[in-house]
Amino acid sequence: MNAELTNAASMKKVRKAVFPAAGLGTRFLPVTKAQPKEMLPLVDKPIIQYGVEEALAAGCDQIIIITGRGKSAIEDHFDVSYELERMLEDRGKTELLKIVRHISDMIHLAYVRQKEALGLGHAVLMARELVGDEPFAVLLADDVVDAEVPCLKQMIDVFNETQCSVIATQVVEGPAISSYGVLDVHPADGRFDGRLFEIKNMVEKPKFADAPSKLAITGRYILTPGVFEMLAQTPHGAGGELQLTDGMKLLLQKEKMYAYVYEGKRHDTGDKLGFLKATVEFALKRDDLGGPFREYLKGLKL
Ligand code: G1P
Repeated sequence: MNAELTNAASMKKVRKAVFPAAGLGTRFLPVTKAQPKEMLPLVDKPIIQYGVEEALAAGCDQIIIITGRGKSAIEDHFDVSYELERMLEDRGKTELLKIVRHISDMIHLAYVRQKEALGLGHAVLMARELVGDEPFAVLLADDVVDAEVPCLKQMIDVFNETQCSVIATQVVEGPAISSYGVLDVHPADGRFDGRLFEIKNMVEKPKFADAPSKLAITGRYILTPGVFEMLAQTPHGAGGELQLTDGMKLLLQKEKMYAYVYEGKRHDTGDKLGFLKATVEFALKRDDLGGPFREYLKGLKL
């Protein structure tokens, strides 16, 4: 076998995408009291479906959702609804039937139950057995990224070239940086149009004065399986939770990791104002709603 073929054979591929969805959604109370925040509709699709479609568009074919108490609506959403399908069929609603079938046909989904909400790192650790010894993606459904090339696809392109963990990042100005994991980086030889950086360090939710840069972690990660061992030994950190950032920081001592400034616009739909902004922008982009909705907005005396 020549060298190129050997390299191609040893190239690892990202097939599995993990969605931590066991959080309590306290930022969005009271609507999240009895309803998962992942199921809030952005126009007419639940937030988590945007992420699942992004993962599929990026080439992942196995979706692992980490759920918790009160999250059964997520499982029902991606399951077959025979009653609904029969009703739509009987009434000749073929377009709606197509939409409903598309959701349950999408892909093989697996669910793992996180019994206690002990943090994002803990949620990811729950996927250890299902992921096994291969690189995988993590998507935080709250972060909806509107991009021409799906954000996760951009990151997988980077992974395919580097075979190292890749974390999505964006610039956040001012004190708002304290709500994020923050990266300390140096440029990686201008690769990927200067969008790629090598990570030197990272810190979860630093004080504004202590933030090592303006580069905030966005909820898209490609991780090597080594992170599981690290998470298993990570002490609980900010907010008393097992932080994914702290586990990745341990991984950084063993492996090279990259930050990638993706192309696209991120909406924080876990935040009430962010959710409203995303709703308006996504509705304006819709062929069926954009026109009349724009007219309506123009008519508001703001
Ligand atoms: C999580 C991560 C944080 C990241 C953020 C992106 O925080 O812990 O590092 O910057 O997602 O949305 P959370 O928003 O869950 O507090």
